[in-house]
This record gives sequence, structure tokens and C-alpha cells, in this order.
Amino acid sequence: MAQGVEIRGLGEHVGTVVTIRGWVQTTRVHGKVAFVVVRDGTGIVQGVVVQKEVAPELWQLFPELTLETSVHVTGMVRAEPRAPGGHELSVSDIRVVGPSPDYPIQPKEHGVDFLLDRRHLWLRSSQQRAIMRVRNEVEKSIVDFFYDRGFLRLDTPILTGAIGEGGAGLFEVEYFEQQAYLAQTGQLYAEAGAAALGKVYTFGPTFRAEKSKTRRHLTEFWMVEPEVAWADSDDNMRLQEDFVSYLVARALERCAEELKLLERDTAPLERVQPPFPRLEYSDAIPLLQQKGSEIHWGTDLGAADETVIGEMYDRPVFVTNYPKQAKAFYMKENPADPRTVLCDDLLAPEGYGEIIGGSQREDDLDRLVARIQEQGLPLASYEWYLDLRRYGSFPHSGFGLGVERTVGWITGRPHIRELIPFPRMLNRLYP
Ligand code: 4AD
Ligand code: MG
Repeated sequence: MAQGVEIRGLGEHVGTVVTIRGWVQTTRVHGKVAFVVVRDGTGIVQGVVVQKEVAPELWQLFPELTLETSVHVTGMVRAEPRAPGGHELSVSDIRVVGPSPDYPIQPKEHGVDFLLDRRHLWLRSSQQRAIMRVRNEVEKSIVDFFYDRGFLRLDTPILTGAIGEGGAGLFEVEYFEQQAYLAQTGQLYAEAGAAALGKVYTFGPTFRAEKSKTRRHLTEFWMVEPEVAWADSDDNMRLQEDFVSYLVARALERCAEELKLLERDTAPLERVQPPFPRLEYSDAIPLLQQKGSEIHWGTDLGAADETVIGEMYDRPVFVTNYPKQAKAFYMKENPADPRTVLCDDLLAPEGYGEIIGGSQREDDLDRLVARIQEQGLPLASYEWYLDLRRYGSFPHSGFGLGVERTVGWITGRPHIRELIPFPRMLNRLYP
């Protein structure tokens, strides 16, 4: 008898007796036949108990098999095309491992705060499991994409002295006698890596002390940031459109079941193919104003503006060359219009907004120093970063893609809080 068989592998055990281990999802009793549905993380299976074929103790156990009770279930595997997963167990024994009286999350509508307070349990529900599977696939696709193209993964620090993006939204940490910050980005270190290794990427958690509550902002989120030596802003956008198209295609190919469970209309995702349209910031402003936006030249696009632009196209769209004052200090001045920088934001369609921010980097030492000072950042903490311009400066570009926003778009979920296992937001540090 096979012990501890995974539910997804039951097909290899048809006609034999196995024991599976998992959590009770539902039970039903129909006269002299009872059913128990069990989940183990690899799949779900229904066990069938026939009263006259089992010991009375097993039959009497049924009322104890409440939602999320952990169990060992032993039975003969039968092919059953109508059952979820295509198999059924003719149960001969059930052993309760851990009872679960009064499981707080019941199959009914719960408020989102109630669920977030119980995130450690909410993760067990079918939609949340599907989202985590898509996230897992996106993360694996990220690593595969860069590995296959000869990029080297460079893990960058989370405790940093130099401010990565700007003074707003920093988490300050006491670092012995010094002031440290949780990394807003790994980019500055990835730039050093690009000079050493050519094409690199960093992939990890990043932190922003976002004081506002929105459906797009976490205080801790995962970002992948490639950095490429000798690449200009156009090369950078070509890499982004190839990358995003690859992530979407992989999810469509390998997460069809999950997307179906989440009721995601996949037609808009099927259209995600390069090239993506490109729209200059300066051309976007009059378009937005015509549509009633109060935006004026010089400020960053708001969430509503991003939605409007995103809805003008059937695939993701690049908005390029923003005004200097709306963007971070490290972006390269645009020679064609020095009021702007060589950068792009990639906006997802269907109202999902910015998923990528990218730019060519300022490689001129004097201009970079001036930008750091203009933004009131402490020059001394950037001495090491300025060395990259002092010793063999080189054109280079890179970008950052937010994992949660990307998974939100792919799965069609409107709020970022569901897209990471344990969200960190303004008012949420537990569980
Ligand atoms: O546009 P951002 O701020 O760019 C950077 O951090 C650059 N250093 C990237 C680079 O060039 N290497 O952030 C990049 C992406 C955004 O487009 C968004 O997807 C995500 O990171 N992001 C957030 N996701 C969730 N919550 C937040 N508070 C986020 N802030 C940014
Ligand atoms: Mg951005």
C-alpha cells in the first residue's frame, strides 16, 4: 500500500490502495453513502464511504470531519472522469490528524478586512491558491527569461545607506551608529553589476513607506530589475515588450486552469505581443486634457490618467520621456528636449496602470551630481555610485517590473492585497 501519495499523482495508482494526506473541504452524507472531499495542495479528490463496507467507527467519524480538519484517507483509487481531478477513492479508513472546530472562514461572503485579518487561513481558499500558483509561474518565468538570455542574477542589499529613488516613502532603520534605509530599489547596485558583468538583474523585496491606501500600493513588494550595459532607451523598451509578452504567454500556457477558476477573460491577454505602442509624455498631456483630466505638463500621471491611456490601446503602452522634475535623479537627460529624461512607464491595459518603470541612466558625472543636488539628496552617500561614472562610464539602461501589479493584471484581480501571500500596507503588519 502506497503511503503519502500526492493527489495529483493518483493516476499512477489506479486499482491500488493508497493513503493521501490533506485537509477536509466538504462532506456530504446521502443515506448509506458518504463523501469527503480532501485538498492537499497538489489537487483535490473525493473519497466515497459506503456504510456497509466500513467499520461503524469510521461512519460515525463523519460529523467530526469539519472544514479544514487534517486527515489521512486510505482507499482504493478508481478512475472517475466526472470527479474533480478524474479520480475517486473508495475509502477504507480515515484518520483525523488535527481537528478543526469552528473554522472561521466559511463558504459564504466575508468582508475583506475579516479575510485579511485571517490571511494565514484565507490562503487555503481556492481563488487564493490559484493566485499563488499564477504568482509562482510568473516568478519562475522571470528567472527563466533572464537566465535563457544570458543575464546574471545579482542579489542586492535590502539595508542601504544611499537612497534609491527619492526622499519620500523611505523606511528608516537604525544601523548601529548610522542611518540606514530599507531598499526602495536594487537598481543602483545593479548598475554596478552591469559594469562588472554586462547584463544582470536583481529580484527581491523592495520597500516604500506608502502612506496612502490605494489598490496599487504595498509597502513591501517584489520587483525584478534588469540592467544592461550599452543599451539605450529604445533597446530597453524592446527588452520590456519581449519580457512582458513572455510572462503573459507562459501564464496562458501553464496556468489555464487557474485563470479559468479566477474567471479571467483571456482574450485581452492573447493580444499581448510586441511591439507595444509608444506615446511621448508631451503628446499624452493634450490627449488627457481633451478627455477631461486636469493634468498639466510637468506632473506625473495620476492613476486615472493611466487608466485613460491604457484604455486607448489593446495591449500595454509605453509612455516615454517624462519631465525631469517628475522622475528620479538617475535618469538620463533627453538630448532632443533637455526638459525631459529618456524613460518609459509601461501601462497595462484594462485599467491596471503602471507595471514597469524604466530608463536610460545618466552616464555624465557632472549632470548626475547636479541632479542629486537638485533633488536635495546627500551627495556623500552616492560617492560609490558616482565612481561608476568616474571609472569607465558607459551608456546603460534598465527597468523595474512590479510582480504584484503584473500578477494582478494577468489574473484580473483589482486589488494588490491579494497578490502577495502576506500583504504589508499602511495599517497591516499582521498576520
Ligand atoms: O517606477 P518604479 O518606482 O521604478 C524603480 O524603482 C526603478 N528603480 C526601476 C528600475 O529602473 N530599475 O517602480 C517600478 C515598478 C512599478 O512600475 C510598479 O510595478 C512597482 O515597481 N511598484 C510598486 N508595486 C507595489 N507597491 C508599490 N508601492 C510600488 N511602487 C512601485
Ligand atoms: Mg514608476
